[in-house]
Amino acid sequence: MADRQMHLGLMLTATGAHFGAWRLPEATPQTSFTLDHYVRIAEVAEGGLLDFVFIADSLGLYPMPDPATAGHMLPISHLEPFTLLSALAATTRNIGLIGSATTTYNQPFQVARIIASLDHISAGRGGWNLITSGNPAEAWNFGFTEHPDHADRYERAGEFADVVTGLWDSWTADAFGYEKASGRYFDPAKMRILNHAGKFFDVRGPLNLARSPQDRPVIAQAGSSDAGRALAARVAEVVFTAQQTLQGAKAFYADMHRRVAEAGRDVSEVRILPGVVPIVGNTDAEAREERRRIDGSFDPMLGIETLSVEFGIDMSVYPLDERLPRDLPASNKAMSRRDLLETEAERDGLTLRQLAGRAASLGHWTVCGSPATIADALQEWFEQGAADGFILMPATQPAGLKNFVDLVIPELQRRKMFRTAYAGKTLRTNLGLSAP
Ligand SMILES: Cc1cc2nc3c(=O)[nH]c(=O)nc-3n(C[C@H](O)[C@H](O)[C@H](O)COP(=O)(O)O)c2cc1C
Repeated sequence: MADRQMHLGLMLTATGAHFGAWRLPEATPQTSFTLDHYVRIAEVAEGGLLDFVFIADSLGLYPMPDPATAGHMLPISHLEPFTLLSALAATTRNIGLIGSATTTYNQPFQVARIIASLDHISAGRGGWNLITSGNPAEAWNFGFTEHPDHADRYERAGEFADVVTGLWDSWTADAFGYEKASGRYFDPAKMRILNHAGKFFDVRGPLNLARSPQDRPVIAQAGSSDAGRALAARVAEVVFTAQQTLQGAKAFYADMHRRVAEAGRDVSEVRILPGVVPIVGNTDAEAREERRRIDGSFDPMLGIETLSVEFGIDMSVYPLDERLPRDLPASNKAMSRRDLLETEAERDGLTLRQLAGRAASLGHWTVCGSPATIADALQEWFEQGAADGFILMPATQPAGLKNFVDLVIPELQRRKMFRTAYAGKTLRTNLGLSAP
C-alpha cells in the first residue's frame, strides 16, 4: 500500500500573496495582465508536480474607504479566471485548473457551461471553486444596491450547486455516438432534461456540450462559517480553509469529516486543504531575513485599511495601541476571515497596530524556514489529522513558488509524502477522487 500522499495546489497570483510583495525590487507588477507571466508560473507549478493551480476572484474592486490610501491598496484586480485558465490549458499537460465563480451574481447554466468547457479544453483538468462573494461591492456591478445577507447567499448557493451538478449530468458518457452511417449524432435516450424549478432558479437543460472528460469537474469550496461548512459537506470535493494553528486546523478537519459523514458522503472523497504562506530559505536564519524583507514592503497604515475591508467596518476609529476591542459591531462581510483575525489578535494579545502588520497575508498560516523546517510543519499538520495537503500561497511570485518547488518538494518526496510523477491525466485522478 502506497504511503498517503499530500495534495498541493497553488494559489495563482501575479506578484505573491503578501500585499506588499509587488513593491519588492524583483517584482514585476507590470506583467500582471500578460499571459506569459502566468504561463511561466504554471510551468514551475507543473514542474513541481502540484495537483492544480487555483485562481481566486472577485467581481469588482474591494471598496477603498479612505481616499488618501485608495491608490495604495492592492485591489483584487486580475484577469478573469476561466479565460486565463483556458489559455493555461493549452500550455500545460497534467496540472489541474481551478477557478472561483460566485453563486451570488451568476446564473448556474452559465457557470456549468464555462467549467464544463474548461474541462473539455483541458482534457479533464477543470475545477470550480464555489464562492458566495465576500466582497459586498460586487452588488454595485450587477444592478443591486445591497449585497444579499450571508444566509441568503448560502441558500442560493445550495440550489445553484444542485443545478450545476444536475446540468453536468445532462448526458451519459456515451451519449454522443457520432454514427455517420445512420446519421444519428447523439442518442436522445442518453440525454437527461433537468427540469429544475426551485426558489431561485428555473432551468430546463440539458447542457449543450458532452459529458465532462473526468465525469464531472471537481468542486472546491472555501466557506468556513457554519453555513459554509454545511454546504461544503454536501457538495465540495476539495475544501479550502484558512487556519492559524494546528489545534484549530484539527478541529476544522474533524468537524468537516463529521459533517461530510452526516451528509451521507464518504470522507475519503473529500480533500481538506488549508492555505499556507511558505517563506523558504536555505537556512532558518535566511528565511527569517527574507520574511523581514517582505514584511518591510507593506506600509502599516494600509494594514488598518485592509482590516476595515476584512471586518466590513471602519477600524480607524479604534485606538491603535490598545488591544483589539472584543465587542466590535457586526457586518455583512464573509465571517470566517474576520473570526480568524480576531482569534489571532486574542490569542497573541495583539494591539490594533500589531494586527494591522499581520494583515498583509490576511490571516493565513505563515511558515518560514529552511526546507526541512517547512517540511516538518507541513508533515505535522498532514499526519496529525489537520490537512490532506495545502494551498500554497507563496508570499512572492514567481520566486517564492520556485524556492518551494526547488527546495521543499524534494524534501517532501524524500519523506515519501509527495508524488514523484503524476498519477494520471485528470485532476480527479491526481486528487485520488472517484467519479461522484
Ligand atoms: C484558499 C481560499 C480561497 C478563497 N478564494 C476566494 C475567492 O476567490 N473569492 C472570494 O470571494 N472568497 C474566497 N475565499 C474566501 C471564502 O470563499 C469565503 O469568503 C471565506 O472563507 C468566508 O466564508 P464564510 O462566508 O463561510 O464565512 C477563499 C478562501 C480560501 C481559504
